[in-house]
Amino acid sequence: MPPSESMEPWRVKKNCRVCDSSHLIKYFDFGKMPLVDSFIGAGEPGDLRIPLEVMFCPACAHSQLSAVVDPKVLFSDYLYHSSVSRTFSRHCNSMARDLKKLFSGRNNLKCLDIASNDGCLLIEFQKEGYQVIGVDPAENLCRLAEENGVPSIAAFWGMDAAKKVVQRLGKLDVITATNVFAHVDDLHGFLEAVYAALDDEGILVIEFPYMRNLIKYNEFDTIYHEHLSYFLIKPLLTLFHQQGMKLMNLAEFDIHGGSVRVFVSKESNKKIPVNEKAIQHFLELEQKEGLHTLAPYVNLQKNAQKIREALRERLRELRALGKKIAAYGASAKGNTFINYCRLDLNDIGFIIDDTPHKQGKLYAGTHIPVVPQAWLRQEKPDYVLILAWNFASEIISKSPEYQTQGGKYIIAIPELKII
Ligand code: TMP
Ligand code: ZN
Repeated sequence: MPPSESMEPWRVKKNCRVCDSSHLIKYFDFGKMPLVDSFIGAGEPGDLRIPLEVMFCPACAHSQLSAVVDPKVLFSDYLYHSSVSRTFSRHCNSMARDLKKLFSGRNNLKCLDIASNDGCLLIEFQKEGYQVIGVDPAENLCRLAEENGVPSIAAFWGMDAAKKVVQRLGKLDVITATNVFAHVDDLHGFLEAVYAALDDEGILVIEFPYMRNLIKYNEFDTIYHEHLSYFLIKPLLTLFHQQGMKLMNLAEFDIHGGSVRVFVSKESNKKIPVNEKAIQHFLELEQKEGLHTLAPYVNLQKNAQKIREALRERLRELRALGKKIAAYGASAKGNTFINYCRLDLNDIGFIIDDTPHKQGKLYAGTHIPVVPQAWLRQEKPDYVLILAWNFASEIISKSPEYQTQGGKYIIAIPELKII
């Protein structure tokens, strides 16, 4: 581990970012891993490798990484384009409509999206008549969002960004933070800035992959350096309370391998009743499954090892038969998976991805090339490992002829299957 004054672009986080306890227990050790979402262009230098370890806090049941990579290294030229996925666009659209119902009768609602990416979510809010603004650290994505008609500020979320937003739009009725909360090192600072920008009757909506599903479905590949935290409901209650906020309601849905959407308001907001029953339901499930204790987390690493062994064995057999194997979906989790399973160019010839910016680049770590979908028809792999298993049905439905011509798919999570 590097000393704090070192030039390394990462540091060690010793205390729980929810409750500040220094007693943390390591339960999943990937060893040194590349930054899974950094793609390598032609002639660019090789990859940085940084320890990837997950720690459990027995005091509050929060899970977090031991290493915090400098966010500038991770996010300033982010390649993730939400709009690529129709599933995600539909999801944003239903959120825009659902939220509007909570404010029934009010016009001119104002919405801020934190980590607004290419503006995909805010476009749906604009369709519902909201005034919108996005904040995202990636300048390339902000430019893209502006081109899509979504006003955007290129910044990391914090008090400075909050002030800029309030200057431009006033206090917000809705603040959305979908798929960013797990990336945040200073959760308390993040929420302080939300508190400052949120109207007293406003609602904060946070979506994050639910740790209960990660454990239940062996989604160990969703562990990577960008995901600093792995959330359960119990520690979140502690966190919101410390920031003068309260959980009002929550719901689970099927995106990114099983996420939870939480509705949070200022503690002083009495307008919308707290759904105690729903909160209790989640807490009881977590309790019943032992998620506030270490045991299920230790089990996760054992299950991951089993998946790795089963897949490696199967690929060995297929290679011996001369089969050609490719992959689909050059997602970050796919790269965790490839590296954890110690697969390389000998195992996987290429990875198809429909995101134009990823095509022509190499996957960090293994340098497997990322290519467009046309390669499926040209190269005719016998097997395609779907790394983006959360979009498996969308990916499969895009190329019906691949299967009718005998092509097969491999999905490895939650367990190995061939279809
Ligand atoms: P994600 O799970 O991190 O969202 O990544 C999904 C990846 O899969 C992303 O790189 C885009 C890619 N993808 C395709 O290439 N084609 C598709 O049809 C879908 C849904 C995703
Ligand atoms: Zn803690």
